[in-house]
Amino acid sequence: MRILVTGGAGFIGSNFVRHLLEKGGDRIVNLDLLTYAGNLENLAGLEDHSDYRFVRGDIGDAGLVADLMAAESIEAVVNFAAESHVDRSIDGPRLFLETNIMGTQTLLDAARAACVARFLQVSTDEVYGSLGSEGKFTEESPIRPNSPYAASKAAADLICRSYCHTYGMPVLITRCSNNYGPYQFPEKLIPLMIANALVDSRLPVYGDGLNVRDWLFVEDHCRALDLVLREAEPGSVYNIGGDNEMQNIRIVKLLLGILGKGESLIEFVKDRPGHDRRYAIDAGKLNRDLGWEPAHSFEDGMKATVQWYLDNKQWWEKILSGAYRDYYDRMYGSGGRHGA
Ligand code: NAD
Ligand code: DAU
Repeated sequence: MRILVTGGAGFIGSNFVRHLLEKGGDRIVNLDLLTYAGNLENLAGLEDHSDYRFVRGDIGDAGLVADLMAAESIEAVVNFAAESHVDRSIDGPRLFLETNIMGTQTLLDAARAACVARFLQVSTDEVYGSLGSEGKFTEESPIRPNSPYAASKAAADLICRSYCHTYGMPVLITRCSNNYGPYQFPEKLIPLMIANALVDSRLPVYGDGLNVRDWLFVEDHCRALDLVLREAEPGSVYNIGGDNEMQNIRIVKLLLGILGKGESLIEFVKDRPGHDRRYAIDAGKLNRDLGWEPAHSFEDGMKATVQWYLDNKQWWEKILSGAYRDYYDRMYGSGGRHGA
């Protein structure tokens, strides 16, 4: 297939591009604006791959996306491009609405005009809001987003749904739980805690540390997306999750244990406003319909992740020092409204 991947220089997108190119058989065009979260080093070694092309640009640029879809005869779109960090959305919601809602709508319009055969919207379990101590999110759970980030993703899901219902567009939506693994930007819980612990900085745990997330190794997410993209019925929604609930404090202590660091580095800090208490995903539909299940246990995935951050210290040190932004500013000019 000729696939337009958007946001392919970010964490999950870059893992997905690698996954597809390693498998072979597809042409991948990666459209990414290279915001603070996009990093071409996530794609190092792929630059000259004959089935791959990188384009720097905004999913909200209607002319650019239409031209690209026509020039590359795009057959499928996988939309990862988004502002993805909840804390940033609390600090400044506007950009989240522009990118995650209007950007998605712009892409949908271009994909509709280009008559693409598949449009996969990479969404999140956060659209369902927060759970009490019982139960799991199914695809039928009500949409009750709580943060500006979650609301922007929920709005995008509903627009995707409406394009399917109204125009008959072959839209697919996936809603995944928290991912971890290589190339995750060190503002998110696991890479932040690893990086901080390695330099003996404090590990800021929000509130009482008892909030629960359902963790999935990023490669398992990528395999699920690949499967849904090729095999799911147009119009379907699939939850994706690792059946692996964990309190934040437990993860932080686990990481300190793997790294051989003391728990005195932990610092309980002010809670995130509106902090969702618990997420848990029922991924039974994906298993029943398409036979997917996670291949990595949490223990193995975490060990591999910690090892990756140990082996790639330069990658995250450069990000934390801002050196990679200086490079983009030299290469492409300033990041503009999307800059760090
Ligand atoms: P990320 O922040 O690491 O990457 C986002 C990428 O999108 C970056 O490369 C950025 O440069 C690019 N981007 C941002 N605005 C853009 C624009 N206007 N045009 C083009 N590119 C733009 O995010 P991630 O964690 O890899 O998440 C990817 C997608 O998966 C998001 O849509 C997110 O909502 C969803 N998701 C993430 C998780 C998770 O645990 N990280 C879980 C479920 C769903
Ligand atoms: O559930 C899927 C979502 O997971 C994705 O849609 C989002 O894009 C992704 O960022 C992630 O959202 P979370 O808010 O769950 O992830 P984050 O890594 O920011 O936080 C995980 C938990 O850890 C959450 O309960 C808040 C807490 N936390 C986070 C940070 C950054 C801390 O206690 N301290 C921290 O410093």
